[in-house]
Amino acid sequence: MPAISSQHFQDPQAVFDQIDAQFQLNDQALIDLAKTFLAEFRLGLEAYNQDMAMIPTFVTGVPDGTEKGTFLALDLGGTNLRVCEVVLNGDKTFNLRQQKYKVSDALKTGEATALFDYLADSVDAFLTDRALSSPLSPTRDEDAPDFLPLGMTFSFPVEQTALNSGKILTWTKGFSAKNAVGNDVVKLLQDAFDRKHIHVKCVALVNDTVGALLSRAYTAGGCLTGAIFGTGTNGAYLEEVAKIKKLAKSPTAPKDGYMLINTEWGAFNNSRSHLPSTPYDMALDRLSINVRYQAFEKFISGMYLGEITRLLLISLIDATPKPLVFGGKSTPVLNNQWALDTSVMSDVEEAWADGGENNVPPFASFESGILTPHVRERLNAVREVVVKQFGFDGADVSLRDAAIVRWASLLVTRRAGLLSGVAIAAVLLQTGRANFPEPDGTHKPVKAERISVGVDGSLIEHYPNFERTLRESLRILVGPIVEQNVDIGLAKDGSGVGAALCALQATKALQQS
Ligand code: GLC
Repeated sequence: MPAISSQHFQDPQAVFDQIDAQFQLNDQALIDLAKTFLAEFRLGLEAYNQDMAMIPTFVTGVPDGTEKGTFLALDLGGTNLRVCEVVLNGDKTFNLRQQKYKVSDALKTGEATALFDYLADSVDAFLTDRALSSPLSPTRDEDAPDFLPLGMTFSFPVEQTALNSGKILTWTKGFSAKNAVGNDVVKLLQDAFDRKHIHVKCVALVNDTVGALLSRAYTAGGCLTGAIFGTGTNGAYLEEVAKIKKLAKSPTAPKDGYMLINTEWGAFNNSRSHLPSTPYDMALDRLSINVRYQAFEKFISGMYLGEITRLLLISLIDATPKPLVFGGKSTPVLNNQWALDTSVMSDVEEAWADGGENNVPPFASFESGILTPHVRERLNAVREVVVKQFGFDGADVSLRDAAIVRWASLLVTRRAGLLSGVAIAAVLLQTGRANFPEPDGTHKPVKAERISVGVDGSLIEHYPNFERTLRESLRILVGPIVEQNVDIGLAKDGSGVGAALCALQATKALQQS
């Protein structure tokens, strides 16, 4: 566990200040990070096997909302497995019916065949339920194929070679199923359907970021980039084929036009040369199942923020010669790896509500008793969340402890929000939609246009102020005019709708061949 350094033994406030400073990112640090981001984008576009994979998706256009059809979609990669039936109505609207299934840790880390059998069984169970209930879609055409086309959203790094095939490069987000890496994910799924005589054909494979982009384009009419800020983080954007140099040798790749790139930005700066790693980040990484991988994701995403905060709080509990929080007491939520869920921090932030966005009362003010009634009331609400969610006895948590938990959550999520803005800025800079600041802080003008960003994930959807913080660093990097033109919209059900849109593109191609 990271130790509190000895020179601060006598001065608790100095310990808090020292920790605080480690989490701060000034403007220059953000600019350096964005420059490094662009350099990694370019490396990934030029060659395979780079940290940032920059995966060509073989999706060469974005929908305009007129697409029509009924498709099955399977979505694996977040907290749940989902099976959906999606009806694209052709007028920018869709209907969707879905069922969620739990993926146990045993399935995540066992044999791949067991995992893919479970996926096939879940689709089968969904189809059985669907047959018993009223149809979401109209009756099938006479000339419909004798299998049900399914689009698969598989939110892990996959080196795609076509719309319907791709090799798993590595697992992320707590998955580590054996005998999967290096294999074609569509084949793994199709084999499971065939073993079980289920008449479903997986015709398309998409990443959730691509799904978010496509579904946002379908409902909003156009979209430049799709991003996920949830259990993991990643982004996809529309790139010129001419810039995807590594595609030159691929016989199946188009020679010009545009293609969506799945950046896999969660792996940005795995060397940590620029990411501001604290001892808590290093401890988290050392004890993770993918040590030294997904560095950026470990600073940003919902899977990790709770754990960073837990490690920070534990270091304060363990501080010597005197504990600095909770009177030195702890609970199983604080003692066990991964036990502090990021949603608890979100609850803390909601309880704090209008207590002041980036404002934490100096911890010394608790001794001098100068808290205003409003701050006292907010802190009481935070205290209630802490008692309940951490599993403390009420008497063990003071208002000062509550303030410390809110401060710790803010440090960790504010840094995550600022770094998320760096990733979006990198896409705008890469695609010529924005310029870095000049030495005097101004920005050279670019063509004024609305820039549509489709997003999904629990952090961006539910975490208070996450988007606002993201926009703060975006504004520093691309300037206020471009930042205001960025239209960040939720790609609700992006994975399902995106997979359906890809399945449509694939079935059209199949019918033509
Ligand atoms: C992880 C996966 C990536 C996915 C992201 C968001 O970073 O590697 O493929 O898009 O999580 O779910």
